[in-house]
Amino acid sequence: MATANGGNGKVWKGTLITILVVFILMQFHRPEIAAGGQGIPLNAPPPVQAILQKSCYDCHSNTPHLKWFDYIAPGYWLVAADINAAQQVLNFSTLGSLDTVARNAALWEVLNQARLHAMPTRAYIALHPETSITDEDIAILKKYVATLKPVIQPDSGFTAARDHQFYEWAKGYYANKQNIIAPNGVPYMDGYKDWQPISTTLREDNGTMRIIFANDIGVKAIRENRIHPWPDGTTFAKVAWGQLIDTAGKVTTGAFRQVEFMIKDSKKYIATRGWGWARFKTPALVPYGKDKVFTTECINCHNPMKNNDFVFTQPIQLP
Ligand code: HEC
Ligand code: HEC
Repeated sequence: MATANGGNGKVWKGTLITILVVFILMQFHRPEIAAGGQGIPLNAPPPVQAILQKSCYDCHSNTPHLKWFDYIAPGYWLVAADINAAQQVLNFSTLGSLDTVARNAALWEVLNQARLHAMPTRAYIALHPETSITDEDIAILKKYVATLKPVIQPDSGFTAARDHQFYEWAKGYYANKQNIIAPNGVPYMDGYKDWQPISTTLREDNGTMRIIFANDIGVKAIRENRIHPWPDGTTFAKVAWGQLIDTAGKVTTGAFRQVEFMIKDSKKYIATRGWGWARFKTPALVPYGKDKVFTTECINCHNPMKNNDFVFTQPIQLP
């Protein structure tokens, strides 16, 4: 009996020592956190800066403030990978170097990710609760981004653009719409005009309005609350228009800018996260992308919503 117990104890001790040695050895593998590039830091008003520093700078800046436990492998490997990926797409330490249009577009994207609680990632908030975004933070960011919107002159180029667009359609581009196909094979679907709107957004920084439509399968899924994941056949259209502000200050839709589609087919589009992506730009509904690799751009930006089947829109409750 005594020997058996002693043997067990030895095995345990041996296992513990092995785990400890592996754990210590893991600490020596230290992937580098890249320096993140040189440039002009974003210069936002102090309340905005404070929110970004609290919630975003740990990954999207050259000055992450990591906790002691972030430095311990294997957790450290994830943190380092996150920071390196995050700096590639958005770096507040160099954002001031971008031209106004690009910077404003990035800041609009920042508001969106924060507003939809896509960022910071849930896993990060679980370990760093102080980085979570509050409703008050969102209100402050929204107010700030609204100040960036371009001044739109009444009856400016927007009307001309709308007229031009109509002219192009009349010329026959529109008649040819059946033959418009994105490089990954997703066709232009004119039927979206009869689908149901499930959400609208006003993009402040570049003065566009968007409406998101869902087809019957999508609408049915919303009603039956079967949207995790969305059923095959669900199709979304996101349509963007410019804004027209008339002399009385009334805002209406201006020129039609583009329409984007996401069509769910978990088998056919398995390589692109189960969705077929497509974008068609006006006036001639030109498919976006040189080859089918263009979907990488869509997926990268939708990736923070991966736990939501890559869909941003939280549908409004349908009657
Ligand atoms: C834990 C690290 C981390 C934190 C904190 C974090 N992000 Fe991110 N963010 C990432 C990573 C990693 C990506 C790359 C996209 C992906 O693969 O999910 C990303 C992507 C993004 C993108 C998409 C950029 C693009 O065009 O593809 C935006 C915008 C963004 N983050 C904004 C924010 C904002 C705003 C905050 C703060 C409220 C924030 N992030 C906090 C890690 C982080
Ligand atoms: C810079 C980030 C970004 C990129 C790139 C992007 N999207 Fe989106 N997309 C969004 C955001 C944010 C929304 C949420 C709606 C809104 O507020 O405009 C969205 C919404 C959508 C929707 C409506 C369904 C949903 O997820 O809410 C479709 C359809 C869509 N995008 C298609 C595309 C396609 C196709 C591409 C590539 C050609 C693409 N997107 C690239 C950010 C992006």
